[in-house]
Amino acid sequence: MMMRLRPNRSAIGPTKSAARAVAKISAEIVALTAASEAWNCMRNSGKSGCVAYISMKALAPATASARYRTFTSRTPSARAPGSPLQSATSSASLRSQGEMLLLGIETSCDDTATAVVRDGRTVLSNVSTNQDAFHEKYGGIVPEIASRRHVALLSAAVDDALGRANVALDDVDGIAVTAGPGLIGSLVVGVAAAKALAFAAGKPLYAVNHLHGHIFAAFLDTDREPAYPFLALLVSGGHSQLVEVESPTAMRVIGKTRDDAAGEAFDKTARLLGLPFPGGPALDHLAQDGNPQTLQFPRHRPDPGTLDMSFSGVKTSVRYFLENDAGQTKRADVAASFQAAVVDVLIDRVTRALDAREYQAIVLSGGVAANSALQRAFKELGRRRHILALVPLRQYCTDNAAMIAAAADRRGTAGLADAMTLAADPNLRF
Ligand SMILES: Nc1ncnc2c1ncn2[C@@H]1O[C@H](COP(=O)(O)OP(=O)(O)OP(=O)(O)O)[C@@H](O)[C@H]1O
Ligand SMILES: [Mg+2]
Repeated sequence: MMMRLRPNRSAIGPTKSAARAVAKISAEIVALTAASEAWNCMRNSGKSGCVAYISMKALAPATASARYRTFTSRTPSARAPGSPLQSATSSASLRSQGEMLLLGIETSCDDTATAVVRDGRTVLSNVSTNQDAFHEKYGGIVPEIASRRHVALLSAAVDDALGRANVALDDVDGIAVTAGPGLIGSLVVGVAAAKALAFAAGKPLYAVNHLHGHIFAAFLDTDREPAYPFLALLVSGGHSQLVEVESPTAMRVIGKTRDDAAGEAFDKTARLLGLPFPGGPALDHLAQDGNPQTLQFPRHRPDPGTLDMSFSGVKTSVRYFLENDAGQTKRADVAASFQAAVVDVLIDRVTRALDAREYQAIVLSGGVAANSALQRAFKELGRRRHILALVPLRQYCTDNAAMIAAAADRRGTAGLADAMTLAADPNLRF
């Protein structure tokens, strides 16, 4: 992918060798997507040269139809996406000594996300392109579509994040990217782009485990970071696990789901209830009008000595219930009762973990952390057990690139940069 280096930053203009390296990596991405819509669009633009960049300009209208959605916070000088950057604020004024300014890239699934984050905590820009419109008719993420959309959107998303933060590529101290786990086709696009940017601009490259990113999302745009060790409950679309976080770079899973992830159970149950994709937020919304005590769906009990969890049983119970109920029970009551069962299991496992060891805080993370009933119960548990309970701001619960920059900041502080040989790993271990 050909990344544009800003013309007004001539001091960091690409050397010939950097330009050749970027062109080589661009060619790799183009080859990967030769049959894709993005490639057709590039050819149809009838131009040559910086193909990916030109294609992004050609794709600007398509970007809007993809419900191009941006979140920004504390943007020093916001500008419209795509408008030229007048003058980048000097990097020195954006950070104090010792603080890092990182560009984050997240393409592990279907969101093409970029962000600029200062000191692993302050979000200067947070850009997320939403692909739901392309996947919803299939009822789930289609990997091939996701990777094609990443190719089509990533250059513009990088440009947009830098512009909204009012910085140039030369101002950042490193490039952070999700290396796994996730969809291989999607990960490859982000990793190749991050390598190209890091190489061309001479910046360190930080490979981040997507799940570590979720954990550090809880501290974004807040001044709260607990002491270690803390206990994280990570509940997302693909994972549900309890994590003991010993230090910013040392953590281990002490309990996890035996089958469906909590988010997956929400999505599947939402589908049974006829709710639109993605189901979790829709079910949460519907449940707000329901009574959680209407139905007693089963709560999984762990095997002795384990902190495992399971959510497929409750989902199946909802299915059998709906088949027999023939629409007599209010859907909101079914949703609220299902949600209560999931929340009870999650809170029970956190409680058991707190009984087993002393932690400095409990931290909620992952897409399901946005769930209103779970947030309430989690904070209530913190109050009951007299322990700090932290929940991410809503915009940092589901996938975003700010959390990737946040985790990378901790890696950078620990001196853990990555080599240009970095490869995406769809099964990256925790
Ligand atoms: N308010 C909510 N209530 C319940 N679930 C929610 C809510 N908001 C989002 N979710 C769920 O969160 C999940 C998406 O979270 P996330 O983006 O972290 O998952 P992912 O990146 O696909 O999975 P992973 O991080 O495990 O790779 C979806 O299953 C979605 O339904
Ligand atoms: Mg995720």
